Amino acid sequence: MSREVVELMLETPAGLLVDGTVGGGGHAALLLEARQDWQYLAIDRDSDALLAARSRLARFGDRVEFVQSEFANLAEIAGDRGKVVGILLDLGVSSPQLDRPERGFAYRYDAPLDMRMDTRCGLTAAIVVNEYSEELIASLIMHNGEERFARRIAREIVRRRPLLTTTDLVEAITTAIPAPARRRGGHPAKRTFQAIRMEVNRELPNLVECLDESVHLLADKGRILVLAYHSLEDRIVKERFVKWAGGDKSTPQAPSKLPVDERQLIDMQTDERLVRILTRKPLRPKPAEISANRRAENARLRCAERAVS
Ligand SMILES: C[S@@+](CC[C@H](N)C(=O)[O-])C[C@H]1O[C@@H](n2cnc3c(N)ncnc32)[C@H](O)[C@@H]1O
Repeated sequence: MSREVVELMLETPAGLLVDGTVGGGGHAALLLEARQDWQYLAIDRDSDALLAARSRLARFGDRVEFVQSEFANLAEIAGDRGKVVGILLDLGVSSPQLDRPERGFAYRYDAPLDMRMDTRCGLTAAIVVNEYSEELIASLIMHNGEERFARRIAREIVRRRPLLTTTDLVEAITTAIPAPARRRGGHPAKRTFQAIRMEVNRELPNLVECLDESVHLLADKGRILVLAYHSLEDRIVKERFVKWAGGDKSTPQAPSKLPVDERQLIDMQTDERLVRILTRKPLRPKPAEISANRRAENARLRCAERAVS
């Protein structure tokens, strides 16, 4: 959803853009091309991603600074670097992470059970499946993966311990899921792999910590854009935005003419709002984008703008 990201960000003042998930630098390159009066703070916790971003963004010289870190440390990193006019979070796993077998993110390759975005961190998928209790494994597969066979899968994982590779895990999952259900809804290991990856990388707690700090960093008229691919992430973003906009006291008033078609922009009027929510409903990718990139299918983009203090 690069076009939507750039269009929404274009309306911010000059200053510092903070990209908490620079990945390979795709959005960053488009944003840096679009405006000359932005500096760019490019954060990612994956050193391979930063290498790729450094190479792709080299032509922008000292307009870009790279930091390997967890985006939950956003406030600390951005702290004294000037006025933050935009924050971009493009959540989840990247295509290069999924496509490199040795990272252990993908159920379609045989690899050690790793799944760490930051390989300096201690918790791996092997530790989760081999050392967590059966109840805890079931609960995270149910919660993060929204998998209805979570209990059966957890039981089978524990029965087969130790599991060493992604193939061992796929086999445990496949055995646990009844045959008719295995034939529906994509690869049977998809939801469990997602759940374990989210646990290994603390994805939901990190998002909450990052969001709670981010709104206070934004300058007047600065914008925060979040692209989520999982309903739990999107719910967290939505709830934070509503809270910053004044919570339940807000009375959404849809403008009579929407400024941009399909956007359903809305101004949430409240007495003490920190932000104006610019996407009442999340923006979704167009069918053409989904057919070009299946991973875009679940993307939801939300944007809020810091109110003038
Ligand atoms: C979907 S990709 C981003 C792609 C990027 N927007 C681009 O255009 O190339 C997500 C990236 O966010 C990083 N990431 C995910 N969670 C993170 C976190 N909590 N802190 C820092 N980086 C994170 C991942 O390592 C990955 O490189």
